Amino acid sequence: MAFLAALASVSTWFPHGLARRAIKQKMKTLIRNAEVVLSDQTAKTNVLFEDGVICAVDAAAGADADEVIDATGLHLIPGVIDDQVHFRDPGLTHKEDLATGSRACAKGGVTTFLEMPNTNPATITLDALHAKLDLAAGKCLVNYGFYIGATPDNVGVLKSAERTPGIKIFIGSSTGNLLVDQQAALERIFAETTLPICAHCEDESTVRANAERLNGGKSYRDHSRIRDHKAALIATQRAVDLAERNDHRFHVLHVSTAQEVKFLRGTSELISAEACPHHLFFNVHDYETLGSLVQMNPSIKHPEDNEELWRGLIDGTIEVVATDHAPHTLEEKDQPYPKSPSGLPAVENSLALMLNSVNTGHCTLQQVVSWMCAAPARVWDIVNKGSIQAGFDADLVLVDMNREAEIRNEQQVTKSGWSPWHGTKLKGWPVRTFVHGQTVYNDGVFDDTIRGTEAMFDHGG
Ligand code: DOR
Repeated sequence: MAFLAALASVSTWFPHGLARRAIKQKMKTLIRNAEVVLSDQTAKTNVLFEDGVICAVDAAAGADADEVIDATGLHLIPGVIDDQVHFRDPGLTHKEDLATGSRACAKGGVTTFLEMPNTNPATITLDALHAKLDLAAGKCLVNYGFYIGATPDNVGVLKSAERTPGIKIFIGSSTGNLLVDQQAALERIFAETTLPICAHCEDESTVRANAERLNGGKSYRDHSRIRDHKAALIATQRAVDLAERNDHRFHVLHVSTAQEVKFLRGTSELISAEACPHHLFFNVHDYETLGSLVQMNPSIKHPEDNEELWRGLIDGTIEVVATDHAPHTLEEKDQPYPKSPSGLPAVENSLALMLNSVNTGHCTLQQVVSWMCAAPARVWDIVNKGSIQAGFDADLVLVDMNREAEIRNEQQVTKSGWSPWHGTKLKGWPVRTFVHGQTVYNDGVFDDTIRGTEAMFDHGG
């Protein structure tokens, strides 16, 4: 009893994550013989971490440690930072919640997620932001951060928000009712706020005109005619113009067209951009077999767009790969167009999809680490994450570049229970995920008692 009372007092005295670490964590862990992906090279070396922080990336093989992991044959990479997920908590938790979404992250090698504000209630007030942070502290197996959502009249909130990666604007509407497309409101947000901004860029009036012309759309394929190339390009150009005129950092979420990539090549240092696996790997031909399962906003486009997105990644125009994980139930997806909702789940397979692309010769592992770990940390000013170096958090993933496995719906841990990549065989998989030095996922086995912590953002001043 005395022991339990002592534990209880430790738990109330320490912030949640620290209490867990203080009680559960082995003090020092040594990962030996992994091919470690560092920021400038990949080297076979030994990584030592203590109390959740990396202390050496070139430790002696015999360094003193409480736990030694022999990772011969495996690569060690920084934990993935997925800067665009929708975890539906609070409000739409029949699709996903912070526990199931973060569990899917742990399996997929994602150690930090940044979540979007289109929950119910939407994250458009400081109270809603803080309530989400509190909810996450109790439920999340990995680290977390939450965007503050823009409305036409909450610029005061956007100016005072802290503990957030930045501001999310839906310049075009998507799931939920967040929309800011009036020029005056957008001008104010870009002129008066200082946090980095990201946006969903699809031009609302173009989308509405297309929908009217097509009588609302009859087939899933019409989704890509309604949310077409022009809608994406107009909105991206409009947002970049606002950012550049106001000297404001701006991140273009989920770029979907070749035209946007070409346009982004000529933009300033203020602008960063991202691509999602569904826009890299799917195109309109996939509606035939997958129907609404690949209905997304922005819509999937054409094979030429897939190719230009890849070119944009390789030449550095697009810096980030993130998922836009947006789960809906299969029953919801089963409805005929346009009732079927847009969105698909992806966090537990995004890293494997990209590792498979390394094996197929599309890119290198160093590039994948740059797109999925280092770049999102840089774009969102995340403190001590995104690379393997002394002093950084021990958010790490062991990957087996030779493992072959098929994505199966019945094995998905997202609450939505399916993947658009069901039946796809991939080579290269995450096998073990560490959050603050603790193993949260190991080859099919979860430690559901582990909690991530709030990501810290250093936006300067
Ligand atoms: O297709 C989408 N669905 N795109 C988004 O950006 C939002 C998302 C959702 O929340 O369902």
